[in-house]
Amino acid sequence: MVLAIEEVTALAELDCLVEFTRNGDPTRDSTGMIMNQLTLTDSEVKMIGRQLADIMSRYTSVEDPDFLNSSAVIAHEIPTRVRKFLNDFKQLEPPPGICLISGYPVSDAGIGRTPTHWKHRPEPSPMLEMEMLFVLMASLLGDVIGWATQQDGYLIHDVLPIKEDEYSQIGTGSQQLIWWHNEDAFHPYRGDYVGLMCLRNPDRVATTFASVDMIRLEHCSVRTLFEPRFTIRPDESHDLSNDLSNDLGNGNGHSVNGNGHTVNNANGRSVNNGNGHSVENGNGHSVQSPEHNGAMREPFGRPRKIAIMSGDPSSPYLRLDPYFMDPPDDDEAQQALTGLIGEIDSKLSEVVLNPGDILFVDNYKTVHGRRPFKARYDGSDRWLKRVNITRDLRRSRDSRGSCTSRVII
Ligand SMILES: [Fe+2]
Repeated sequence: MVLAIEEVTALAELDCLVEFTRNGDPTRDSTGMIMNQLTLTDSEVKMIGRQLADIMSRYTSVEDPDFLNSSAVIAHEIPTRVRKFLNDFKQLEPPPGICLISGYPVSDAGIGRTPTHWKHRPEPSPMLEMEMLFVLMASLLGDVIGWATQQDGYLIHDVLPIKEDEYSQIGTGSQQLIWWHNEDAFHPYRGDYVGLMCLRNPDRVATTFASVDMIRLEHCSVRTLFEPRFTIRPDESHDLSNDLSNDLGNGNGHSVNGNGHTVNNANGRSVNNGNGHSVENGNGHSVQSPEHNGAMREPFGRPRKIAIMSGDPSSPYLRLDPYFMDPPDDDEAQQALTGLIGEIDSKLSEVVLNPGDILFVDNYKTVHGRRPFKARYDGSDRWLKRVNITRDLRRSRDSRGSCTSRVII
């Protein structure tokens, strides 16, 4: 059961959507707010290119645990101007809670056709250079994390249209508007940032966003929104059949060996989930899950009541995903939620990502979504890469198998 979507739809019709200007810095949204944008210079592109060539001589996959563990150090070889830009975004939390780095060239022919499913991952990856740049920039904000329940536990996700998901409320859908949301808002270990890197976007499909610092808080019942009176359910991207900690197989290529609870999936990842709760995937990630791993279990059961806002009441953090929220138990909470949704709808803006663009969204300050589009399924469709980033890997230690594992199970 979800929040009264008819109400949300009505409010969405009031959107004031203005596309960012793409020529010249700084860009401004419909409220006149300056967008945080950095365009790489030719010399910066050349410098980064040399660095990436060296890194690719040492690592062959962006999922390589050794690369991931080294990425925070390697990232400090990125040009100073880029590091300062991302450090300011992290430390100053500037509105509107998104930042865009443009200018790194992408070869449309070189990356190949847009796959028809995220499970189709060519190895070695033809866009390894871009993927490594993406992770290095993400590492300047925090540590990349993934979910056992999303895209087979891979850390770098593909966002592309899948025919079977055409009308689903999921990043691999297309015809349905993706309602704005905080990424993985249902979960206490959600990322502090979500990153999107554009490989191609031929139809100029817009990413929507709005920051809590863009809305009129005086129009919201902030006190109520700070109280644990709301519930959020997992979104459709968390397919429980992908849960590598689950010892039951499914029809998606997983095979189950009863006593040993060993699972092999199509990507060669194996899971041994008996008493030892050990998980290993094809890219060398090996984890030992704790007996209780309760933080992941609870959100998939009966949702705990949570507050939508936290932190500073004058510039709060957000935890919100209206499409997957149940109606609150009381009228006061319902009115507070409806009022906040209306405020965010009234400030919703758009950014159209071009190939090579890397967008980071502050997942505690800003919601994001996506406009609907007509997919082609001919290899030329919109194709993004996505990562989740945490500022504090330790927070999720009870749900990761080791201190170095990046997968929340
Ligand atoms: Fe999202």
